[in-house]
Amino acid sequence: MIKVAPSILSADFSKLGAEVEDIRLGGADYVHFDVMDGCFVPNISIGIPVLKSLRKATDMLIDVHLMIREPVRYAEVFCRAGADLVNFHVEADSEVKIREAIRIARELGKKTGVTVKPNTPAEAVLPFLPLVDLILVMTVEPGFGGQHFMHDMLPKIQSIRGYIDEQNPACELEVDGGIDPETSPLVKSAGANVLVAGSAVFNRTDRAMAIREIRNA
Ligand code: DX5
Ligand code: ZN
Repeated sequence: MIKVAPSILSADFSKLGAEVEDIRLGGADYVHFDVMDGCFVPNISIGIPVLKSLRKATDMLIDVHLMIREPVRYAEVFCRAGADLVNFHVEADSEVKIREAIRIARELGKKTGVTVKPNTPAEAVLPFLPLVDLILVMTVEPGFGGQHFMHDMLPKIQSIRGYIDEQNPACELEVDGGIDPETSPLVKSAGANVLVAGSAVFNRTDRAMAIREIRNA
């Protein structure tokens, strides 16, 4: 089943609760929550207080994408603030530290994921694949919404789909960046099953139609 995870980075933060209710009613599966520290990526977004507020406003699964250096420092606090699933970038620290971050989140009863930037090879997910619920493949350079989809990520998505089917078939394969009704058929046929979309959902007035088009295209 294909899931759609709208990224609230493109939402109107002055009415975040209503924006998230709109996508829930529109059939979204997860809420994608982008955290940026101005260091791991060249932008700063939202963090712990916003997550706590959002947690009170929705029962939807909140998929937290941590674009921060040394995320092990904050794994516990994001879990306690209301994350349901926490994504850690493999580039953000050593393998040992990323494993430790995953362990902390799992012990707190959360789902976990590892994320790869465009220049990181598919094989980088292998040490983590048995431990996680989701792999997130970036299809733009992380940091900003509204960028163009990188078509050269399609072979990587296919390779990771192969690893997942062999080694952890329950693991989900999420893609993030430039997903819209034109690019969604490409990532679906490459094997992705969770599609993050920021501008393609929140820049439209009819979010239900936007979500349906991305899911069914
Ligand atoms: C980018 C973020 C994305 C972003 C996607 O660093 O991780 O989640 O919001 O935005 P679109 O769908 O507009 O490319
Ligand atoms: Zn994201």
